[in-house]
Amino acid sequence: MLLAKNIKKKIDGREILKDISFSLESGQIISIIGPSGSGKTTFLKAISLIDLPDSGSLKIDNNDYQFPVADASKIKYPYPNLTVVFQQFFIWPHLTIRDNLTLALRGNIDQKHFDEVVGLFQMTEFLDRYPNEVSLGQRQRAALARALMLKPQYLLLDEVTSALDIEQSHLILSHLRSIAEKGVGIVFVSHALHLASKISDKVIFIDEGKIVEEGTSEILKNPKTDRLRKFINIADQIG
Ligand SMILES: Nc1ncnc2c1ncn2[C@@H]1O[C@H](COP(=O)(O)OP(=O)(O)OP(=O)(O)O)[C@@H](O)[C@H]1O
Ligand SMILES: [Mg+2]
Repeated sequence: MLLAKNIKKKIDGREILKDISFSLESGQIISIIGPSGSGKTTFLKAISLIDLPDSGSLKIDNNDYQFPVADASKIKYPYPNLTVVFQQFFIWPHLTIRDNLTLALRGNIDQKHFDEVVGLFQMTEFLDRYPNEVSLGQRQRAALARALMLKPQYLLLDEVTSALDIEQSHLILSHLRSIAEKGVGIVFVSHALHLASKISDKVIFIDEGKIVEEGTSEILKNPKTDRLRKFINIADQIG
């Protein structure tokens, strides 16, 4: 269980996260949607301890964190039990896709698991190419596959389908569903409301650093707040 309570974060004196509480259970998929700049990525960085919150608390399985932390050098980081895939991928350009996938495993490769993930994401064809020799969507799949190599229990995904076409996105979604069924808790940050609606056990709508509305994906059909209604209408108009 990942439990975040009253998470607040200021950047350059501006309140970016304003008292966000959140919980994610094993096997659950929660989508976070919201306008650009609303704080989605900042929230993922906060709950993964990449950018520490200013206040609030976090519990990841048996590890408790209280913010502000007394001594940042003593933090017990939750990786790779919790793994984040960022919008920008952060793939090493000087390593092949294969080496990118296995780098963090430090030679400790579970070949069966490696083959399974590579098969799942249809990556055999471009495994031995460099990132600049594959398409954007293939790089995106590689970033996701690399995270899965670590066998995380919590997977935080920031716009991981943005470079994929509809068919690929749906394929990834069904893989994520089967990964969740194995007990992994997934946070799926996305601009694509139809994907969020399809995949989620729960949807959270964030605006200006606050949770404005949350519930099942039903809230995307019948929003209670004007703010979410407006957001959905604009998304519908754009397609
Ligand atoms: N390192 C930083 N320095 C200054 N401002 C920042 C920094 N990181 C984020 N911000 C600001 O915090 C706010 C939230 O940013 P964040 O990246 O969390 O938004 P987001 O919801 O992920 O947006 P998007 O959908 O465009 O990815 C924005 O106003 C952003 O400009
Ligand atoms: Mg973002």
